[in-house]
Amino acid sequence: MPIDVARARAETPGCAETIHFNCAGAALPSSGVLQTQLDHLTLEARIGGYEAFNQEETRAEAVYTSIATMLGAQRSEIALATSNSSALHPFLYSIEFAPGDRILTTRTEYGANYVAYLHIASQTGAVVEVVPDNDVGEIDVAALEAMVDDRVKLITINHVPTNGGLVNPAAAIGRVANEHGILYLLDACQSAGQMPLDVAAIGCDALTATGRKFLRGPRGTGFLYVRQAVLETLHPPMIDHDAATWIDDDTYELQPDASRFESWERNWAAMLGLGRAVDEAMAWGLDDIQTRVTELAAALRTRLTEEVADAEVHDLGSQKCGIVTFSLGGRDLIEVNRSLQEEEIVISVQPMHSALLDTVGRDLPPLIRASVHYFNTHDELDALISALT
Ligand SMILES: Cc1ncc(COP(=O)(O)O)c(C=O)c1O
Repeated sequence: MPIDVARARAETPGCAETIHFNCAGAALPSSGVLQTQLDHLTLEARIGGYEAFNQEETRAEAVYTSIATMLGAQRSEIALATSNSSALHPFLYSIEFAPGDRILTTRTEYGANYVAYLHIASQTGAVVEVVPDNDVGEIDVAALEAMVDDRVKLITINHVPTNGGLVNPAAAIGRVANEHGILYLLDACQSAGQMPLDVAAIGCDALTATGRKFLRGPRGTGFLYVRQAVLETLHPPMIDHDAATWIDDDTYELQPDASRFESWERNWAAMLGLGRAVDEAMAWGLDDIQTRVTELAAALRTRLTEEVADAEVHDLGSQKCGIVTFSLGGRDLIEVNRSLQEEEIVISVQPMHSALLDTVGRDLPPLIRASVHYFNTHDELDALISALT
């Protein structure tokens, strides 16, 4: 069913204030997500933080089941986190790498992930290798397969890079990983909330996401999925007494589920907001969201190319999503951003270090990233195009 855009906008207070094209940064939350947080904060202020949690424990538990349902996973396979990185790192650092073990990743990998791979390599003697792209800029599945040998310990890729509209062939990578029995970690930070995610169909062992981007959840939220059979083999690098049970003077026992990757303290107002955002995404329908987002982003790419003389769109990939990246000849993008802000239009200017290998490899000029969601409209695209021209 097509998204009811008028309803989506009426339920998004920020739509009245701003033309928001920064969903790949932090999207506008719905009034439901906002109210969920306010209600819990109010309850905490009234009766105390622990007491508020006890009162809302069933709803807190439902956050896990909502995320599991969205991913086609089990509740026991979900850990809550405060960001994509805080979800990804405990999994990554749990893997026991030996000298010569190979970590295969993408050229478009996000900086926070890539520096962690390098850090692990420097500490363990593992090596990080970048799989080449195919001729449309996605990770090349055939090249990946040709690189596989028995030293490949981990395939770790992003589903959607931070700096472009392409969607990597996550399920095709999953088939290679599964066929060769290699651990497969998918960074779904930019895809969660703008397209369906099915961990069984993708074939990943672990998946991470953040709440604040296309899921439209609060800042300071994220989650990790780890397949049950895999998580049982992993010993997190740091634990607290929530991740493990303290048995006696000398003994602790790791939790049998993904909570071994969690820490005890969390902002429950934000986590309940995340649960609400996930429920809303599922209620809209992730297929319908993807259809709307893809259509709007495609329209924006066409209009930039046809109507803005110095605009050059840099998105690659055979399948594209809601992230649109473009350069503007020699224009000073900081200045462009400032003048767009004066017209209440929100975009972002891509920092080079967020996807350094890709920026250098493609010799990319400074880029504007405009990332759309289902609540955006063609009138808002008009406003952006006219501001740019
Ligand atoms: C592809 C990708 N992965 C990971 C991250 C890191 O997410 P977080 O800041 O929630 O840790 C980002 C953030 O922009 C991203 O775009």
